[in-house]
Amino acid sequence: MPSDTAYHGDLGDHFVQLSAVHPTNAFVDRPAMLALIGDVAGLDVVDVGCGAGFYSAAMIERGARVTGVEGSERLLAHAEEATRGRATLVQHDLEQPLPFADASFDLAVMALVYHHVYDRKQLLSELRRVLRPGARLLASGTHAAGEQRWLGGSYYEGGRVDAPVGDGLTINFERMTIERFVNELIDGGFVLERLLEPRPSEELREADPAEYERISDRPSVLTLALRRPVD
Ligand SMILES: C[S@@+](CC[C@H](N)C(=O)[O-])C[C@H]1O[C@@H](n2cnc3c(N)ncnc32)[C@H](O)[C@@H]1O
Repeated sequence: MPSDTAYHGDLGDHFVQLSAVHPTNAFVDRPAMLALIGDVAGLDVVDVGCGAGFYSAAMIERGARVTGVEGSERLLAHAEEATRGRATLVQHDLEQPLPFADASFDLAVMALVYHHVYDRKQLLSELRRVLRPGARLLASGTHAAGEQRWLGGSYYEGGRVDAPVGDGLTINFERMTIERFVNELIDGGFVLERLLEPRPSEELREADPAEYERISDRPSVLTLALRRPVD
């Protein structure tokens, strides 16, 4: 049975429409992640929870060999369209060991995926295994302070939530403090190199000044640059 945290069926289509325009995705997460991704020409890259293939397509444009891993069949179909046969796309539940050989990749991009996964310890151990020594892991997640503003409740309590995303749909994820997010990744064997709380990009200021003003005073995403040590 597929994980309830992959965006199956209508939730997949909803995500594609929403993420194209939603400020958190389009104007906060993406500019920050794309800047960190940088020059990936000639690298073997895995896009973990690739969704509709936004990052996969962008990294192909930058000359990377891209493998996208995604649980939702619906989103994988969108990713096929976005990457036009130029990526290796694999349907896979991230609750299971990754279907790749040891030391296969120079970079893993995991954008807005980590908080959905239940067995994060296994996922990190698997990412460590499939990354080459010295490879980078770039991970983003919804910012705990933004979540508290969105969902209320205690900043510290954590736990699984079903959060409303419109059209009667909900997404299931783990609320966790910044401390927990960062320390899980460190305990998973990665070295933290950079922690960002990205502001909305200038494009949003031009496209929608009122929305830019509205979200400029709050963090919505936490973005981490990590490295798999050489051992
Ligand atoms: C917020 S979306 C982000 C998609 C993409 N990384 C992006 O930023 O455009 C979260 C993605 O993680 C995927 N996902 C969540 N849990 C998963 C699991 N257990 N196995 C595979 N994919 C999963 C979802 O299907 C969805 O595509």
